[in-house]
Amino acid sequence: MSEYSLLFEGIIFPGKGTKPELLCELRDNFVVKDEDTITVTYPKSGTNWLIEIICLILSKGDPKWIQSVPNWDRSPWVETTHGNKILKDQEGPRICTSHLPIHLFPKSIFSSKAKVIYVIRNPRDVLVSGYFFVRKMNIAKKPETLEQYMEWFLQGNVLFGSWFEHVRGWLSLRERENFLVLSYEELIKDTRSMVEKICQFLGKKLKPEEIDLVLHYSSFQFMKENKMSNFSMLPEDFITEGFSLMRKGVVGDWKNHFTVAQAEAFDKIYQKKMAGYPPKLFPWE
Ligand code: A3P
Repeated sequence: MSEYSLLFEGIIFPGKGTKPELLCELRDNFVVKDEDTITVTYPKSGTNWLIEIICLILSKGDPKWIQSVPNWDRSPWVETTHGNKILKDQEGPRICTSHLPIHLFPKSIFSSKAKVIYVIRNPRDVLVSGYFFVRKMNIAKKPETLEQYMEWFLQGNVLFGSWFEHVRGWLSLRERENFLVLSYEELIKDTRSMVEKICQFLGKKLKPEEIDLVLHYSSFQFMKENKMSNFSMLPEDFITEGFSLMRKGVVGDWKNHFTVAQAEAFDKIYQKKMAGYPPKLFPWE
């Protein structure tokens, strides 16, 4: 643990943004509305990219909103004090975001028709992305080496707990019609088809030229330069020199960072923890 984080029910949270009382209250009493759209991810899976795409679909490609309002106000994080306050006061259809594992998410989700989009990403790339992120941000204990972070990651001793439990927990809802699973890998491979799929899921009809705008304004390069989306507007005490949310934006960067021995050790644990899972869900398998 570190001065920056807190432990709630055995799971590490960024301590500056939330409180145990809020997490309790949220799970038991937060009302998910049928007209809500919720982006749920394990951190570093492409959360902010999906937020950008959803916002742009809602604005039919008009970038005014994404260029004038920070992403955490457009699609507030349910589990943060800041986001929770916005959502509580908000009338009508809301869009929101969460990294919560399913057992800590508001229980009302189970009886709600809210649309949930869950983004998965190869955990090896999630690990590498998380390693660089946590080292540059003052939100959790900073690992000294990738080896050390891998150890924490495989034990679930990182922000929002175990990747394996997060993914298995949320994917238990995958047969529901109000639940869409996307992968970072598919988003990279064929962004247009994925945007069209999201439009269909949300019941939004966009013209081809509006889809072009969504693609343009949610591109890696555009997001990297958009201060409303690249986290550069976070309070100074959250970030350190050289931080960038949009780091590389590629598939398979883990191959540049894992040693052969690390890759083998990771695979062994992965196989054990994901035993019995249909591989067709995971494009990296
Ligand atoms: P890398 O660190 O591998 O570059 P999250 O939003 O869940 O924190 O995920 C962050 C990861 O998504 C980062 O991965 C970031 O570069 C990548 N990402 C964000 N926006 C992207 C975009 N428009 N296209 C591709 N990757 C993007």
